[in-house]
Amino acid sequence: MLVIVLLIQYFAANVSSIKIKILSVINGDNPLYGFVAAAPAIEVAHRDMARQYPHILNNHTVARYTVHSSGMPSCPDAATLMLTLSRNISDILYNSEAGFSAYFSVNPPEVPTFGNLTWQKFDQNDTVAFHAYHSLAVVNNPNPKWEQVRDITSAMAEVSKERWNLTMSVAQQHNDLAISVYEAYQTFAFVLNESFAELENLTGVGFAKRCWNRTFESRTRPVNIDARGSRINSVIFSRFNSPNGVRTVRSRSFKLKTVDLDMI
Ligand SMILES: *[C@@H]1O[C@H](CO)[C@@H](O)[C@H](O)[C@H]1NC(C)=O
Ligand SMILES: *[C@@H]1O[C@H](CO)[C@@H](O)[C@H](O)[C@H]1NC(C)=O
Ligand SMILES: *[C@@H]1O[C@H](CO)[C@@H](O)[C@H](O)[C@H]1NC(C)=O
Ligand SMILES: *[C@@H]1O[C@H](CO)[C@@H](O)[C@H](O)[C@H]1NC(C)=O
Ligand SMILES: *[C@@H]1O[C@H](CO)[C@@H](O)[C@H](O)[C@H]1NC(C)=O
Ligand SMILES: *[C@@H]1O[C@H](CO)[C@@H](O)[C@H](O)[C@H]1NC(C)=O
Ligand SMILES: *[C@@H]1O[C@H](CO)[C@@H](O)[C@H](O)[C@H]1NC(C)=O
Ligand SMILES: *[C@@H]1O[C@H](CO)[C@@H](O)[C@H](O)[C@H]1NC(C)=O
Repeated sequence: MLVIVLLIQYFAANVSSIKIKILSVINGDNPLYGFVAAAPAIEVAHRDMARQYPHILNNHTVARYTVHSSGMPSCPDAATLMLTLSRNISDILYNSEAGFSAYFSVNPPEVPTFGNLTWQKFDQNDTVAFHAYHSLAVVNNPNPKWEQVRDITSAMAEVSKERWNLTMSVAQQHNDLAISVYEAYQTFAFVLNESFAELENLTGVGFAKRCWNRTFESRTRPVNIDARGSRINSVIFSRFNSPNGVRTVRSRSFKLKTVDLDMI
């Protein structure tokens, strides 16, 4: 089970004395969706956002925390563990002054696909497969434009090496989840900046609602959030059309709500 959340709490008696607590919760060490993927992404996202909004996110205003449960828990175990971790979370967030918190869940739009659909993988003359592929449709999610975010992914690999002595594989550097962590952070920073002057009178729900029913443009890909706060994901639907078996770009794009695969 994937549970990586960013919890942000503001204490703003007035804007000049704003305090922001940013808490990342990472449940488990899975190399593709646990600590190894998420922690460097959070570091790089924070660094980039602090550069972009230096008057808001800086060492005087921000205190950062991580709640990290280690190991490789199964999905049900990880879910149970969250109940225990909620104590750790509230210890960090709710032990002092008034303020409000907003919860940003990381929602990777990529749906994992299994198997290898490469046409004519082993056989240059696979007539049976050729005919079969005519009735095959492929549903994909749009990936980030990796070449456009190479600075972000290589920064994550650097941080991973420097801070945790972990060398990220190529697959780990092309991790949809890490980019989704970055996007969640970016969305939070954008809305924080945008509503900065009004924070004094905002509630957590009020702050969260500023993310709803909007699209945030990002270098990575657009972040669409629906009217109830869920991320909307596009899918690309394509099929093999041409007589020679090559997959053509006869694709259609849909917007789709995320299905939590872990619940299936
Ligand atoms: C802010 O803190 C980070 C580490 O937490 C440090 O690397 C950086 O130099 C600090 N910046 C300033 C301006 O003190
Ligand atoms: C949660 O809090 C308990 C009690 O303070 C502590 O023993 C445990 O290590 C904490 N767990 C994490 C993941 O921070
Ligand atoms: C899929 O096929 C390609 C090309 O033959 C190969 O390089 C790749 O390792 C295969 N992937 C898997 C998961 O089998
Ligand atoms: C490919 O297989 C088909 C059916 O088995 C056969 O008729 C055809 O000659 C083969 N083509 C080549 C280039 O081997
Ligand atoms: C970093 O990891 C490598 C390989 O896993 C290990 O050989 C090396 O001792 C580690 N370095 C440090 C400073 O922990
Ligand atoms: C931050 O918000 C202010 C006020 O809405 C806006 O003028 C400014 O362009 C924003 N900064 C960034 C980097 O988006
Ligand atoms: C917050 O609400 C109080 C009371 O209504 C008002 O006096 C104050 O100007 C508001 N602050 C901002 C930043 O809107
Ligand atoms: C969402 O935004 C659209 C246009 O931006 C607006 O017409 C619609 O009423 C909004 N829906 C909700 C539930 O806020």
